[in-house]
Amino acid sequence: MKKYILLIAVFLTSLNVIQAQKLDLIPKPVKIEQQPRTFIIPASVHLILDEKVHKSAVFINDKFLKNTGITPKISIGNKHKNNAIQFLVDEKMNIPNDGYTLSVTRKGVLVKGKSTNGVLNGFQTLLQIFSAKEVRRGTIPFVEIEDYPRFEWRGMMLDVSRQFFDKQTVKNYIDWLAAHKMNIFHWHLTDDNGWRIEIKSMPDLTLKGGFRGPGEVLLPSYGSGNKRYGGYYTQEDIKEVVSYALERGVSIMPEIEIPGHSRAVTASYPEIGCVTSQETKSVQGEVKNVWCVGREENYQILDSIIREFTEIFPFEYMHVAGDEVNRATWGQCPKCQAVMKKEGYTDTFQLQNYFFRRIEKIVEKYDRKTAGWNEIIKGGELSPKTQIFAWQGISYGIESVKKGHPTVMIPGQYTYFDMAQSENERGHRWAAITDTKRVYSFEPIPENDLSLEEQKLIKGVQGALWSEYLDLPA
Ligand code: ACM
Ligand code: ZN
Repeated sequence: MKKYILLIAVFLTSLNVIQAQKLDLIPKPVKIEQQPRTFIIPASVHLILDEKVHKSAVFINDKFLKNTGITPKISIGNKHKNNAIQFLVDEKMNIPNDGYTLSVTRKGVLVKGKSTNGVLNGFQTLLQIFSAKEVRRGTIPFVEIEDYPRFEWRGMMLDVSRQFFDKQTVKNYIDWLAAHKMNIFHWHLTDDNGWRIEIKSMPDLTLKGGFRGPGEVLLPSYGSGNKRYGGYYTQEDIKEVVSYALERGVSIMPEIEIPGHSRAVTASYPEIGCVTSQETKSVQGEVKNVWCVGREENYQILDSIIREFTEIFPFEYMHVAGDEVNRATWGQCPKCQAVMKKEGYTDTFQLQNYFFRRIEKIVEKYDRKTAGWNEIIKGGELSPKTQIFAWQGISYGIESVKKGHPTVMIPGQYTYFDMAQSENERGHRWAAITDTKRVYSFEPIPENDLSLEEQKLIKGVQGALWSEYLDLPA
């Protein structure tokens, strides 16, 4: 008889597994145990938010209502109540940063995070469960989840220079990042084809450099056609987006493109560029798109610009670019040549390093750390605190780590989403044809090339969305 009971129990357990609804979670949680029973959300449900997450109360309320159709009653505190959905921060939790547990039982729902962002990650899991196909609206399957990220840096870049995306579109983009538990939005705000951030001490950067078309300082490009095209974010807009992102657990790293990719700057303020007798072209065919690094006044200008950036972006890193600099321009410019001579440089990469060492000092003066594309490690030493974005390939990330820099892997061959996703699709092809499978195949830690200690310098991964191939927003 006992044997039969055991068999029936095994059978029922297996049925339970079959009956458990699919929760459609992405990324997949580290641990998940599900039961085939459900918690029915009461029509008068109470959401209890830890004091530490109170800034996200409106976000939590709105998303909850949208996904469940139920208007919750929200209170701030940490007292438990039956049938409630509770969000607690417990800094003593034994779980990696940004980790959380989610427990759904007959008594209610508890989301517990080691930090605010941990709680927000747990909330995103809950939202995904609400919208899973097999989950009935207004219910939550009984589940125990433990989850934490492998990397502390989970970023995504958006290029708003080549195409301009308005504030609401940027907020939507941030919502998608938060939904996938990504925590960094890398905002590529300036480039050859448009300067998108208001700088009060240099108003023409946006008034002139924010637009292109007939009669504008910038020529039409990337499908902008024969009409005035462009736009920019005021500092108030940016503060609003920064708060919006933080309420969702996303930090914003701003990027200023210097000293290359700067046609929007030199078109607005020609004196910033080099004086040359011959034009040379950048990789993307631009002329005059480089800051003169031998012009002393340019460092005061950069000091003011970086100060204004740091006044509106609280994030610890300031990205100062450094990719694809048309250094040949410096070879033609008397002021740049004078610095090379004075410093005894024989190579323009040394001049680039001279520039970035000065930029690092400015960034540090405003209590921020420097970040830049992988080219900035050439030509000499930089501060070991400077974080490198390895975009040209994995080997560039390895080189950066070997030089002692914290490094984010963002190889074009795997995580540039402007690459075509199939043979027949629009998009760049210079790095790869990048379909979903290929992106998933990317392993950010090249174990064979780095010691365990070195591997710790790989802070995480990032994707990038360059916008030359995107449709113009309507
Ligand atoms: C880059 O893709 N030029 C950073
Ligand atoms: Zn110069």
